[in-house]
Parts: sequence; structure tokens; C-alpha cells
Amino acid sequence: MLSSIKNSAAVSPSKQLAMMYFRVAIVLFGAQLLMGLIAGLQFLYPSFLYEIFDFSVARMVHINALVVWMLYAMIGSTYLMLPDETGIDKPVAIGLGKLAFWVLTAAVAVVVLVFIFIQVGPGKESSIWFINEGREYLEAPRWADIGIVVVVLIFYANVFFTYMKGKKTGIMTVMVANLMALAGLYLAGMFFTDNISIDQYWWWWVIHLWVEATWEVFVGTLAAYALIKVIDAKREIVEMWLWIEVLMLFGSGILGLGHHYFWIGTPEYWWEIGALFSALEPVPLVAMFVHVLYDWGKEQGHADAHGKGSAIKNGPTMAWITINAFGNFLGAGIWGFFHTLPQVNIYTHGSQFTAAHGHLAFFGAYATILIGMMYLGIQQVYGIERMKTTFKGKMAIFLITFGVLGMTVALTIAGYEQVLVERAELGAGWQAFFTAQNLPWYIQAQTWREIMGVVTFVGFIYLVLDLLTIGKVAQESKE
Ligand code: HEM
Ligand code: HEM
Ligand SMILES: [Fe+2]
Repeated sequence: MLSSIKNSAAVSPSKQLAMMYFRVAIVLFGAQLLMGLIAGLQFLYPSFLYEIFDFSVARMVHINALVVWMLYAMIGSTYLMLPDETGIDKPVAIGLGKLAFWVLTAAVAVVVLVFIFIQVGPGKESSIWFINEGREYLEAPRWADIGIVVVVLIFYANVFFTYMKGKKTGIMTVMVANLMALAGLYLAGMFFTDNISIDQYWWWWVIHLWVEATWEVFVGTLAAYALIKVIDAKREIVEMWLWIEVLMLFGSGILGLGHHYFWIGTPEYWWEIGALFSALEPVPLVAMFVHVLYDWGKEQGHADAHGKGSAIKNGPTMAWITINAFGNFLGAGIWGFFHTLPQVNIYTHGSQFTAAHGHLAFFGAYATILIGMMYLGIQQVYGIERMKTTFKGKMAIFLITFGVLGMTVALTIAGYEQVLVERAELGAGWQAFFTAQNLPWYIQAQTWREIMGVVTFVGFIYLVLDLLTIGKVAQESKE
């Protein structure tokens, strides 16, 4: 892809490295969706690929690919912003950064192959080191954990020392501090205790404090940067909002951790703490939502008043950021709030309702804006002044968003049925679990989820085709 860029020598090495990360991210995104489709089919036909490619494995690869592609796209986005925000074209140790990219990619490939080839077996000390560490979303074995830490340290050193050398914008200051917290939290998922309550307690430090604190702040920095690039948003305004969000997210997000401590054997005071603080979590999400739309509306009005028409410099990026604002608010804020009080959660815990929330939140808060960053990257490395949304790009936006919303609605209905039949009526026993899953409402809901999953996947194909061609098309139409 890069070789076809006319002025590739003029493209900052940092941005070139960003594109390498984006490419792997998209491949892993595709793998994630395929695994989801297999796991979804297994809900409908439990014998499908049984003992060849079990549900447990398809599900595991699905959610690990999710986490890893997002981390790739996050590292890519950081390298994309770095030159603009620090004024330094070439990060201090770009060669090492590239090497780290290849090491990480090789490690990810090995881990996935091991997952696929060794699906069952005894859980021993050695399997923790070489096969699977057994923590949902973070299953990578310990050798890979340690490798990941080394690679992330190289990445972080590159960002940190480049930042120290260059100019220090507010956006970059938040990013540098936040990345340290994000990387540091990973360590909480790397040790093992025999007590399952203590183990779960620390595991949530990674999962919850990532998605509800450090990742949210991270995408806040991306939105701030992208809004400046795409609609010339005023830096003082986006940075002010960013600081407010940091304050609120860390405030509500850290104690909001309590909503995962209701039933794992931790003291009961977590009921009150979890209920109160996690109920406050949607507040910063509403603020972000208002912030993006307000900025956009103001800029639009400004442009119209001057007869300039649309002031949007990158159509697809702006579209995906807007979906991000809605999606984050709906998926994390609304769908999260639904089941966050212990009085509700006692019925919904671990049901398809949780899956509905997980899908819309990860998609809305993260997938959307990271896709937007990929378009921004293409615009920058191809040197395109104004990037319009193509037909393929519009199909991708529509089908992916519609598909994920459809899956969410279907899963919410499945969860509702579980709450009524399995939990309330039949008392949440083992038999109740199976009875509820064999009733028509549940099966129909799972069927619709699979159909909507296929819609999402078709949208993904359009997305890939668009990302592969939009740079060249826009460059040619310029000449
Ligand atoms: C972008 C932000 C968020 C993401 C990506 C996200 C994602 C997830 C995921 C994947 C799970 C399932 C974890 C598991 O496997 O057990 C989960 C659980 C949960 N989330 Fe979120 N979440 C986000 C924000 C929120 C917010 C803001 C709230 C509350 C207002 C919330 C409330 C909950 C609760 C209560 C559970 C536990 C569900 C259960 O008991 O089964 N989440 N979240
Ligand atoms: C082709 C579309 C997709 C299909 C068919 C699909 C299917 C599935 C299935 C069957 C599971 C296991 C649910 C369970 O254990 O009850 C799952 C889990 C999950 N998927 Fe997907 N998925 C798709 C796309 C996505 C997307 C786009 C995202 C986010 C960006 C996502 C995020 C997740 C998460 C976070 C979980 C764990 C949820 C939990 O533990 O509650 N999936 N998916
Ligand atoms: Fe949480």
C-alpha cells in the first residue's frame, strides 16, 4: 500500500509505522468477526464443529482478537498523532519501534495458532506459561505476556521521549500519562492466585479499568485530535473538555469497578459503592456526546455563514466519530446503566443481556473511532486535502452500524427471556439454564443475532475494500 503512495518519502516515519499497525488491526478485526459467526452458529447448532473447533475456543479467539486489534489500532493512532502533536517527525527510536511491531505480530500469530491446535488438556503450571493463562479476554500465555510488556515498553519509551523532546500539547500530556496507567494495569492480570475471588478481583482491574477508565480517556484524546484535524475545532475548547472528562471518568470509573464485585465473594459494601459510582459513569459519556455534536454544529453554522459549504475535511472520519458519540453513550451509558444496580444485576448477571451491552459498548466506544482514525491515517499519508465518503464507505457505515445494533437488540431480547424464565420463574438452577435456552423466544433471538452478524460482516467487506482503494481514488481525482 505504501509503495503506491506518490510522495512516500515525505511521509513521516511515525505515520508509516501507524499504517503498519492499522493493517494488522483490520486483519484481526476480520478474524474476530469470523470467530463470532462460528460461535453464534454454535448457539443455534450446538454440534456444529463440536470437538473440532469448540465454542469455548471460537469465543476465546473472538474476544482476544477484539482486544488485540483494538490495541493495535490504538498504538497506530498514537504513532499517527505523535508527529503533529510534538512537532517531531521521527520518534526517537523509530527503528526499535518497527522491530517491536514485528516481534508483537509474530507473537500474536504464535499465540493464536497454539489456541487453535491445543484446545483441551490438563491445566498445569506449564500450560499457564505456554498455552493459556485462563483469564477471559487475556488468555495469552505468560511467555507472551512478558513479550507484550517488553514491546509495550519500547512503544511507550518512543512516545514518552519524543514527547519530552518536542512541544507539549494538552492532548499529548493526557495521552502520555494515560498510556502509563493503561500499560501498568496490564500487570494486574499477569499473576495467579489459588483463591478465585482474589483472582477475579484483580482480573477486573484490567478489564474494567481499561474499558471504563483508561481506554475511554484514550479515545477522548483521539476525538480531540481528530476534531481539530477534521473540522478545525478550537484546541482550547477540545482540550478543556478532555480535562473535564479525565476528571470525571477517573472519578466514576475507578470506584465504578464495584459493579463487578457484587457476587464474586468480596465484602457487601461493594453493593453500595458499585451502585452509586457506576450509576454516575454515564455522566461523562453524555458530556462527550454533547461535546462532539455541539462542536460540529457550531462549525457547520460557521461554515454556512461564510458560504463555504461543508467544512468537513474527512467525511468518513467525521461519520465514524459521530457514531462513536452515539454508540458510546448508548452502549456503555444506557446499556451499561440498565444492569449496573445490584437489584437489577442479580437477575441479569452473566446473561445475554451482558453480551448485548458488551457488543454495543465495545463497538460504539472503540471500534467506531478507531476505524475513523484509520481513514484519517490514509488521508494524511496520501496527502489528500479533502476526503469524501465513497459509496463503499457509506455501505460500510450503514451495514456495520445496523448489524451491530440489530445484534444488540436480538441479544437484549434473549437476555430478557433468560431473566424472566431462567432467573425469575425457574430459580436460576442448572436445569433452568437449559430450559430457557430451548424456548422459541431465545432461539429466535439467537437466529436474528446471527443474521445481523452476517450483515455486519458484509459491511466489514465493504470497509476493507474502501480502505484499500479510497487513498488512490482520492489522489487520482485530484490530478
Ligand atoms: C466503553 C465502555 C464499556 C465497555 C467496552 C464495556 C464492556 C463490558 C463487557 C464486555 C462486559 C462483560 C464482561 C464479562 O465478560 O463478564 C461488561 C460487563 C458489565 N458492564 Fe460494561 N462496558 C463499558 C461501560 C460500562 C458502563 C459505563 C457501565 C455502567 C453504567 C457498565 C456496566 C457493566 C456491568 C454492570 C457489567 C456486569 C454485567 C454482569 O453482571 O453480567 N459498563 N461490560
Ligand atoms: C459477526 C458479528 C458477530 C458475531 C456473530 C458475534 C458473536 C458472538 C458470540 C456468539 C459471543 C459469545 C457470547 C456468549 O458467550 O454468550 C460473542 C461475545 C462477544 N463479542 Fe461478539 N460477535 C460479533 C461481532 C462483535 C463485535 C463487532 C464486537 C465488538 C466490537 C464483539 C464483541 C464481543 C464481546 C465483548 C463479547 C463478550 C461478551 C460477554 O462476555 O458478555 N463482537 N460474540
Ligand atoms: Fe465495568
